[in-house]
Amino acid sequence: MDRLKLVLLGPPGVGKGTQAALLSEKFGIPKIATGDILRNEIAGDSPLGKIARQTIGQGKLVSDDIVIEIIKDRLKNKDCERGFILDGFPRTVVQADALSHITDIDSVVSMDVDHPEIIHRLEGRRTCSRCQKMCHLEFHPPKKEGMCDDCGGALFQRKDDHRETIEKRLLEYDRMTKPLLKYYEDRKKLFPVNGMGSMQEVFSKILSVLGFSG
Ligand code: AP5
Repeated sequence: MDRLKLVLLGPPGVGKGTQAALLSEKFGIPKIATGDILRNEIAGDSPLGKIARQTIGQGKLVSDDIVIEIIKDRLKNKDCERGFILDGFPRTVVQADALSHITDIDSVVSMDVDHPEIIHRLEGRRTCSRCQKMCHLEFHPPKKEGMCDDCGGALFQRKDDHRETIEKRLLEYDRMTKPLLKYYEDRKKLFPVNGMGSMQEVFSKILSVLGFSG
């Protein structure tokens, strides 16, 4: 593979971050997640972090201008020369149009799972406060309760992973992000994948639709 510029699309909790990490490891290209970048800003209490904290807490999308600037900057990094995996960007038609002026995306993998599975995945998710790695209390629980298997950092539950906010995020997805399915279908870049099944099964499905072997 010379270069791969990939977008992962799908509702909250569908498994974008999980699959982006696996793809990043396999192809040696960075996973770029606007959600992670915004949470780092929040942790650093930067001016941007202060804006993002409120918006994310309400289950709404941060403004297009902010995230477009973030991505524009990030894609200039040398580590993106061989490609990248975008996780959580674009999320609106405005963002997708802006991305098309920044770079040419090869493929967009859209994932979907049913509503109860989304709730189950998100309510059980725990994130490491040190290295950001995710786990799930039921599907792949940490070896030691409350502690990250990789770095020993403390695990926490994201504030937006509580039922009420999850429901708001899902509505926001339907309203703002779902139109991107047609947007990329029209441009012949869309590769839908059923996100049900184990993480490895979903990973194999993604590789297969993209024409790679497991
Ligand atoms: P963001 O962090 O991008 O959240 P999201 O899109 O809602 O997605 P999640 O991270 O919740 O889920 P995921 O699909 O990555 O699933 P995961 O792999 O973790 O964004 C957060 C907020 O930031 C937004 O609400 C918005 O406010 C703001 N924001 C970010 N980007 C923005 C943008 N471009 N524009 C405007 N605002 C933006 O999996 C979930 C759980 O399920 C985990 O515990 C995992 O271990 C488990 N799991 C995964 N796959 C499987 C499987 N196959 N089987 C069983 N369990 C699984």
